[in-house]
Amino acid sequence: MVAFLLFLGTAAHADEGMWLPLFLQQLNEKQMRSMGMKITAADIYNINKGSLKDAIVSFGGFCTGEVISDKGLVLTNHHCGFDAVQNHSTLERNYIRDGFWAKNKGEEIPNPGLFVTFIVRIEDVSKTALAGVTPAMTEQERSAAIDKNIAGLKTTVKREAYQDFFVRSFFEGNQYFLFVTETYKDVRLVGAPPSAIGNFGKDTDNWMWPRHTGDFSMFRIYAGKDNKPADFSNENVPYVPKKSLSISLGGMKEGDFTMVFGFPGRTTQYLPAAAVDQIMQVNDPAKIAIRDKALGVIDGFMRKDEKIKIQYAAKYASISNAWKKWQGEVLGLTSTKAVDKKKVYEAEFQKRVNANPAWKEQYGSLLGDLETSYAEINKYGLARDYFNETISRIEAFALGAQLNNLAGIKQKNGDKAFKDAVPKTIDRLADLYKEYSPEVDKQLFTVLMEKFTKDQPAEFLAPELVALAKSNDYNFSKIADEFYTGNDLLNAGAKVLANLQANPDLVLMANDLNKANQLFISLNAHYSATVTRKLSGLQAKINQLQRTYMKAQMEVMKERKFYPDANSTLRVTYGNVKGYQARDAVKYDFYSYLDGVMEKYKPGDYEFDVPEKLRTLYKNKDYGPYGKNGKMPVCFIAMNHTTGGNSGSPALDASGNLVGLNFDRVWEGTMSDINYDPSICRNIMVDIRYVLFIIDKYAGAGHLVQEMKLVNKGKNP
Ligand code: ARG
Ligand code: ASP
Repeated sequence: MVAFLLFLGTAAHADEGMWLPLFLQQLNEKQMRSMGMKITAADIYNINKGSLKDAIVSFGGFCTGEVISDKGLVLTNHHCGFDAVQNHSTLERNYIRDGFWAKNKGEEIPNPGLFVTFIVRIEDVSKTALAGVTPAMTEQERSAAIDKNIAGLKTTVKREAYQDFFVRSFFEGNQYFLFVTETYKDVRLVGAPPSAIGNFGKDTDNWMWPRHTGDFSMFRIYAGKDNKPADFSNENVPYVPKKSLSISLGGMKEGDFTMVFGFPGRTTQYLPAAAVDQIMQVNDPAKIAIRDKALGVIDGFMRKDEKIKIQYAAKYASISNAWKKWQGEVLGLTSTKAVDKKKVYEAEFQKRVNANPAWKEQYGSLLGDLETSYAEINKYGLARDYFNETISRIEAFALGAQLNNLAGIKQKNGDKAFKDAVPKTIDRLADLYKEYSPEVDKQLFTVLMEKFTKDQPAEFLAPELVALAKSNDYNFSKIADEFYTGNDLLNAGAKVLANLQANPDLVLMANDLNKANQLFISLNAHYSATVTRKLSGLQAKINQLQRTYMKAQMEVMKERKFYPDANSTLRVTYGNVKGYQARDAVKYDFYSYLDGVMEKYKPGDYEFDVPEKLRTLYKNKDYGPYGKNGKMPVCFIAMNHTTGGNSGSPALDASGNLVGLNFDRVWEGTMSDINYDPSICRNIMVDIRYVLFIIDKYAGAGHLVQEMKLVNKGKNP
């Protein structure tokens, strides 16, 4: 009985899944309507006329945004627009601390490199992509054949000159889909609240409920005069979208239908128990422990130095974000007994396979082979994590690497290519220096190199590193002194950039003497000799097994509804607004209010300070049309299955109106990337009324609200 219940636990739940918009009608519409949806699948995705999908953009390739006015206004999260806000901030003009609002279009700030991508249409191209692919092929042969097939599409795919396309693999390479896209590259910053609102509660509250963060920022898409994509130009005009979202002031009550439409990045829902166990026991704990060290160093400097606080803000947030998520993930996988459930599921799979001779022949040894392969990859995966989390984190190495690349170009492609490459190197180094402090990096080097050397088995340590450590009695602080002192590349960025202009050869010569760089070269060589090659061979084997396992599950476990893992393509997920029981005796409500912001308020605090103006608005209950019964809603949760990349995604109500912005998940449920569990997996959204309240009443940027289409005014549930 217990086994049976556990088994049911792994079948897809109503709320689980990130679905491809083009199959909604076929796979989901009926269920969505039964859960309360009032629109049709064709209102969501339609290639013949404007549909909701035409208001959704991939924001810079890492987040989601949505168009909310017919003048190209785009809403996304504060943490998604943060890099732009940080880039425009200085000590004197600190938009991170004070927020920023353009008073008119002339004040909107361009962001070179930032883009938004619309999806024009999606097509199944599995047949074309897999033409001529046979089971006998090696993984390399297979991917070469597929690449060639996909390249062939360049001449045949129907699209306009200003449109692009890409093809992605789904279901572990069993299917391929094509996405025709339109990318706009002139995206300007319109506004962002101060961090004390946009990132209220910072890392302490991150991945947690109850949450009180106004995690939003605003941009505007600019197009050429013909409304088509165009490079940045002062002549560009606000983009007129095919569709912009209507915004509902109606709010949500428990049980209401919601859906989230966006670009989830990566999930791994179909791993075998052995792989999940490895993540929990080996990889997550190692990465967490290393990041503990890195965060300790950076935090120490940020708290006492305002300049470093600006420089390292984005870096710190991103290191801390995954660090905290992994902890929640291990906790959630443990509490929901994910590995046991997978084992029960696998036993059922094996039983069915064994009972059918054809399946037995094809799939009989699959699970065993997967287990063996995961056991083999274990130590190499760990070595990769160590390398990525330490060597790739130390900026002294990254700086040296830029010059190594330049030297490589000179050697391989000659003087002309070298001269041409210098300006790019200068740009890249300048970018690195902007967010670099030698003091911080030196301390990072000390603690991370020590951990790298002391934790790992001898086979993964370069002989040069061992010799260096031994001759310094394993005193890495001494080694750091020797490396960083008097090293221009690590201490005198401006000088190095000037020298690169004047005499790049001289800079390369100096880099040959740079001891940090010498060590880096040895570490790299040793890593590729002892880890990279092994890892890619084993990974290829695992990919092939996972692909077969996916195909086999779809054949054998017929009653289960399968959805493809997230791969940064456009998906729809849906579920009802709902609180949850976190653990014994602890139940969470589904809405948070401004009262909660004030409960958390700590004057002058690094994470929980509240701007004076917001306190005044609260005191006077001055919420305009956005409050509800004298209270100001802030965030709410629902059962939508989301992941990283879904940040900034619109939360839509049953009629397709914008009611919130997705930005996070709850602590107990962060393992939804590996094993979604409806009892504790919830996504967190900021209520659109809080967003409008901050824009209008707090920032005094009501002219932006004028651009939007508001519905359900005065209709509060
Ligand atoms: N946890 C959310 C996501 O994965 C929000 C992260 C931004 N906030 C922060 N304090 N780092 O991206
Ligand atoms: N905060 C995430 C993001 O940036 C969303 C999530 O992981 O739930 O996309």
